[in-house]
Amino acid sequence: MRKMIGQKKSAGWLVLVLLILVTVGCQNGAAAPAVDQSAPTMEPSTNTAEVTAVDLAITPAQAEGPFYPITAPPDRDSDLTTVPGSDQTAAGQILWLNGRVLYQNGAPAAGAVVEIWQTDDQGIYMHPGDAGTANRDPNFQFFGEAVVGADGSYAFKTIVPRLYEPRPRHIHFKVKVGGQTVLTSQFYFAGFDGLSGGEFPEPLVLTAVPGTDEAGQAILTAQKDIVLSG
Ligand SMILES: [Fe+2]
Repeated sequence: MRKMIGQKKSAGWLVLVLLILVTVGCQNGAAAPAVDQSAPTMEPSTNTAEVTAVDLAITPAQAEGPFYPITAPPDRDSDLTTVPGSDQTAAGQILWLNGRVLYQNGAPAAGAVVEIWQTDDQGIYMHPGDAGTANRDPNFQFFGEAVVGADGSYAFKTIVPRLYEPRPRHIHFKVKVGGQTVLTSQFYFAGFDGLSGGEFPEPLVLTAVPGTDEAGQAILTAQKDIVLSG
């Protein structure tokens, strides 16, 4: 019996020595994982650098084209479907275009201004360089501005432009920060004019989705973020 107790004691010491050796070995081993002694928590991270540490793809620039307004028209709000002095709505399919303007790191470009300009439902611009401009839709605004909100949001109410040969339909846009142009580009429409959308960089391709507005009128909506460098 005494011998058995002695054997058990010896075995116990042996286990203890082995545990100490294993522990010391782990502490000194290069491959030992670091152990976080802090208690686990379900609280959201308060490390803002960690939250905003993203690297978004910059929206590619494209040509301005020849139809940017020579002077900013006085009527240039973000609803291009109505104009002062007319109770009629612009011809064409109503399009709600919205999204966010962000910097590459994900921060909203609050206070920036987005400008759009485009053709009416006949493919005509309001510009002396367009030979058909005298026949343009008198109820369409052609150019609009939207101020980017604190969360980066922008929104326009416009129409789906008509294509003019040889170009597929498109909406020109600029983003200005502090009055200075930081991006000039164009949006295209997947599913129109035989376009799959793959012909252009994805950040420039709109997917128009059918819906209804608050009055129950059929509209299209398209959502697209714009990402600025810096
Ligand atoms: Fe154009």
